[in-house]
Amino acid sequence: MPVATQASLKGLTPEQLEETSCRLCLNNTYHLGLKPGQAVLDAVGGAHRLQGWRHNILTDSGGFQMVSLLKLATITEEGVRFLSPHDGTPMLLTPEHSVALQNSIGSDIMMQLDDVLVTTSPDRERMRVAMERSVRWLDRCIAAHARPETQNLFCIIQGGLDLEMRRECTLAMVERDTPGIAVGGLSGGEAKDDYCRVVETVTALLPELKPRYVMGIGYPEDLVVSVALGADMFDCVWPTRTARFGNAVTKNGVLNLKHSRYAADFGPIEEGCGCICCREGEGGLGITRAFISHNANKETVAAHLLTIHNVWYQLNLMREMREAIIEDRFPAYVRGFFAALYPDRA
Ligand code: GUN
Ligand code: ZN
Repeated sequence: MPVATQASLKGLTPEQLEETSCRLCLNNTYHLGLKPGQAVLDAVGGAHRLQGWRHNILTDSGGFQMVSLLKLATITEEGVRFLSPHDGTPMLLTPEHSVALQNSIGSDIMMQLDDVLVTTSPDRERMRVAMERSVRWLDRCIAAHARPETQNLFCIIQGGLDLEMRRECTLAMVERDTPGIAVGGLSGGEAKDDYCRVVETVTALLPELKPRYVMGIGYPEDLVVSVALGADMFDCVWPTRTARFGNAVTKNGVLNLKHSRYAADFGPIEEGCGCICCREGEGGLGITRAFISHNANKETVAAHLLTIHNVWYQLNLMREMREAIIEDRFPAYVRGFFAALYPDRA
C-alpha cells in the first residue's frame, strides 16, 4: 500500500494513482480526525468521497502516529493522551474514539488502537504491559465497531523482539478472530535477523486464509524476504518519499536521477517497466531519464512522475511474487530478484 496520510498521495490525482494499479491505499485516522475532522467526514460521507477514490482504503488507528510524531503523547489504560498540534488543547484517543473515527472515515480496513513502543525498548516489563494492553484494546475496538459487516477490523500483534511474548500475543489475537492480522512494533530500525525471527515466529501461528500485514515495511528486499516468511501486505512512505528526492526504484537498485550522468540519458526511467511513464507504445508517456534529471531540482513534475513509477514498481513486485507463488516457482523468483539487485554477489 502506498501511503496517502492526509487523504492524498503527494503529487498524484486519484486517477493517476488508479493508473499505477493501486487498489488499496493507506490513510491515517489521526490526521483525518484532526483535519477535516469527524463532522466533515460524516457530512461528506467518508474518506472515499473526500478524496475521490473509488477503490479501497486502509486506515491506521492513530496511536502509532501520535507516539512517533508527538514526543508529548502519554499512554494510559484509557488511551493515548496528547496535546493538539493545532492549538495545544489536551486530547485523548481511546480505542472507542479511534474506531468511531474510522467508522466515519468508512475505511475498508480499520486497524485496532494498539500500545506501540516506538523505541525497540529493552524494558521487558513495559513491553509486556503494551502487549497485554493491545489485546484489551482490541476487545474494546471490537465492542465499539459499528459496521463489522462492511469494514474489516484488523488486530495488531505486539511484543517487541521477544519471541515468547510474540507467540503469546499471536495466540490471544488469533482467538479474537478478526478478518485480518497485522504485525506491529517492527520497522523501527531493528536488526534484520531480529525482524525475520519475529515475522517467522508470528506467521507460523496464523490461520492460512487470513491476510497478514506487516506494518511500516517497504524496501523491495524487505518485501521479498517478508513474503518468503509468510506475509502478504505492507505499507511504507519510502517509495513515494524517495521519489521526491529524485530517486527511482528499479530492479537493479535505486537510481538518483538528479545525477549529471543522466542529463543526456534518453532511455526510460527503467527499461521494460510497465508504468505509464516508462512503457512503450499505447498510452506510454515516453518520459526519459534526461527529462527527470532536467526537472528534478526545480519543478515538481519530476517528483510526480517518479512517484507514479515507484508505486508501480512496488505493486508490480508484489504482483510478480503472487504469480510466482501461484505458479509454484517462488524460490527461483527470489534468487532472480537478488541476482538483479546484487549482480556482484551472485
Ligand atoms: N505502523 C508501523 N508500525 C506500527 C504499529 O506497531 N502499530 C500501528 N498502529 N501502526 C504502525
Ligand atoms: Zn516506470
